[in-house]
Amino acid sequence: MGCFSFFSRWGTEPPKGFLEFEDELSEVQNLRLYSYKDLRSATNDFSLANKIGEGGFGPVYRGRLRHGEDAAIKVLSAESQQGAREFLTEIKVIYDIEHENLAKLCGCCVEGNHRILVYDYFENNSLAHTLLGGGHNSIHFSWRTRSKICIGIARGLAYLHEEVHPHIVHRDIKASNILLDKDLTPKISDFGLAKLIPANMTHVSTRVAGTIGYLAPEYAIGGQLTRRADVYSFGVLLVEIVSGRCNTNSLLPLEEQYILERAWNLYERNVLVELVDTAMNGDFDAEEACKYLKIGLLCTQDNPKLRPSMSTVVKMLSGERRIDDSKVTKPGLISDFMDLKIRSNPDKSGRASLDQKNTSATTFSGFDNAEHSLLSSNTTSQSTMTFTEACDRNN
Ligand SMILES: Nc1ncnc2c1ncn2[C@@H]1O[C@H](COP(=O)(O)OP(=O)(O)OP(=O)(O)O)[C@@H](O)[C@H]1O
Ligand SMILES: [Mg+2]
Repeated sequence: MGCFSFFSRWGTEPPKGFLEFEDELSEVQNLRLYSYKDLRSATNDFSLANKIGEGGFGPVYRGRLRHGEDAAIKVLSAESQQGAREFLTEIKVIYDIEHENLAKLCGCCVEGNHRILVYDYFENNSLAHTLLGGGHNSIHFSWRTRSKICIGIARGLAYLHEEVHPHIVHRDIKASNILLDKDLTPKISDFGLAKLIPANMTHVSTRVAGTIGYLAPEYAIGGQLTRRADVYSFGVLLVEIVSGRCNTNSLLPLEEQYILERAWNLYERNVLVELVDTAMNGDFDAEEACKYLKIGLLCTQDNPKLRPSMSTVVKMLSGERRIDDSKVTKPGLISDFMDLKIRSNPDKSGRASLDQKNTSATTFSGFDNAEHSLLSSNTTSQSTMTFTEACDRNN
């Protein structure tokens, strides 16, 4: 398993099935390619015991590579509708980007029909599993830890939005895409839906993709993608982290089911503190926790132009910048869609469940009828939805 220079790595014959990807992958400098044989042996023949999760892309295995390092090995399943396009996007977008808060893609395997991504392995799974997963884990998320996680995710996103050129919109920020390393440092993962925003553009129009509950309304309904769509998803996630609950919970009384509606109602009554996770047993800085919730509300405002940039969010969270309470306006909600999702697949805890088999992506016909498409899908509220991107255009 080595790191090859692209054109000379195969000697005379590239592996079967590789050529179709060659043009696109050739843009990626020094891409590390793993052989299927090595990955099979790293995962003990992709054994069930080594399986750590499954998403719309396919199963994910823990493996030990030849030099003893652990890796998360993500196998594109034959049935995956997310498919080869996301496989390529993931590699092209993230391969040469490194940041403390972004999951590192180590390389890939393209052999015959096999399409496999290899990442650094993160010991503490995802936020969906550990914080929102219904209490089946031993990690205690103190206020300090939550604050560190929120700031880390915000820094990772600010880096993608403002420091990388062209800027990157992730499009699928959600609890299951935030992995935690052994020190609970958050790592943003899954760049398969990411979009590059060319330097002189403010937005790209695109077919809609993402996860219901985290989707900014202007993007879900109009297909207009800006970095502020990620800011919206981050805002939802921020409120989830402070409250310890998933963005939708059909078991609660109607007015409490959607976390943003709930947060807005409590904010208007000046009792936001009621939303803070009781699992901390009151051991938190109430003023700071309410400030975080207000920042979540600022990020999810209906008008995308009013949402702060991610670098401003970092400053607000870390106390470098004050937030002006009077400026918070009502969050944008697509609760009609969420209502349908939840009713079609109730979840006992109302929290994100792991190993959902029903996270298969659903392909829709486009943003012109995005509303119809969303309503007619049968994905869950936590699944990534992939819409075909055949007529993406910049304008
Ligand atoms: N690098 C990693 N280290 C440790 N665990 C990982 C890693 N990557 C993925 N996982 C685990 O595998 C699970 C499945 O990941 P995957 O990204 O395929 O799907 P998902 O995010 O749960 O769903 P979706 O397909 O809707 O995005 C994750 O929730 C996580 O538990
Ligand atoms: Mg994921």
